[in-house]
Amino acid sequence: MPHLNVCVIGEINCDLILYGLPKNLEPEKETLAEGFRLTLGSSSAIFAHNLSVLGARTAIISRISDDALSKVALERLREGGVDVSAVKQLRGGTPTGVTVILAQPVQRYLLTYLGTIAEFCYEDIDRDYAFSAQHLHISSFFLQRALRPQIGRLFREAKKKGLTTSLDTNDDPAGQWGNDLLDVLPFVDVFLPNECEAKAIARCNELSEASQKLSKLSRIVVIKCGEEGALLREGREEQWCPGIRVETVDAVGAGDSFNAGFIYRFLAGASCEKCLRFANIVGAFSTTREGGTEAFRDSGAMKRFFADHLNRKP
Ligand SMILES: Nc1ncnc2c1ncn2[C@@H]1O[C@H](COP(=O)(O)OP(=O)(O)OP(=O)(O)O)[C@@H](O)[C@H]1O
Ligand SMILES: [Mg+2]
Repeated sequence: MPHLNVCVIGEINCDLILYGLPKNLEPEKETLAEGFRLTLGSSSAIFAHNLSVLGARTAIISRISDDALSKVALERLREGGVDVSAVKQLRGGTPTGVTVILAQPVQRYLLTYLGTIAEFCYEDIDRDYAFSAQHLHISSFFLQRALRPQIGRLFREAKKKGLTTSLDTNDDPAGQWGNDLLDVLPFVDVFLPNECEAKAIARCNELSEASQKLSKLSRIVVIKCGEEGALLREGREEQWCPGIRVETVDAVGAGDSFNAGFIYRFLAGASCEKCLRFANIVGAFSTTREGGTEAFRDSGAMKRFFADHLNRKP
């Protein structure tokens, strides 16, 4: 058994979430929010935190500053049991990234300052340590401006060393969905986009067409469809798992939590059906508290939620 189950290579930032804002925001007007939460943000960090809380030995490799937000983020990751010893922390210079989320009733706004995320590069990574894991996960392909040209190389090296791999691109703020991603996907065992991302990457408007096209590139394609659930395709086999109805506080990090649930079961050798079912439960659980990790800090609530939903008929 390798010492590490999963190594996450990616970004670390904090989320500042504002709740209860009016639907339409007026410029130059003092607008009051009803609620606020400062919490661990970023796809890679949320995934690492929640996977570790589920029980996988998890490390994250990243670059951050030594400012106030980096301290909050590292503390949260440590509390979740994530090994942060390979995170490069630089004094001064570019600040740690931050995302301000306006959690509006219908749509949410996500405003991100990339900070050190854009500077994190291949040379920052202790590859011997990264490849000592059983599995490599990378998130936020399009935000990793410096690392992006080397992401294919990292996946190729990981596969050569016998690791399994997963990738969640998340959104492309530039809206370009570059073809360099298509060269990476053959080295990804589990590809985890959401519905909009899958359609944009496959350059089509239909969910099943997107899953067909993408499954020609990656071994297992899992497309997340918000509260509706998720679609999985492996070769010619397709299966749908409906979402779970819950009282939702916000859906921030639901996708990353879903990924954690899926990979946790995948590493234990579960069938795709079981991985998908557990992922839906973990994704839904994350929406019951603020941000992507707050729910997972209450281990009692987590155990009750999982027991309750795992015992229900799908
Ligand atoms: N409101 C909800 N109720 C129940 N389950 C949900 C809800 N929203 C999301 N989920 C679960 O979480 C999964 C991932 O959600 P979503 O499609 O929002 O991913 P995403 O867009 O990648 O999220 P993220 O903002 O974390 O990147 C869904 O497939 C579903 O299982
Ligand atoms: Mg996502």
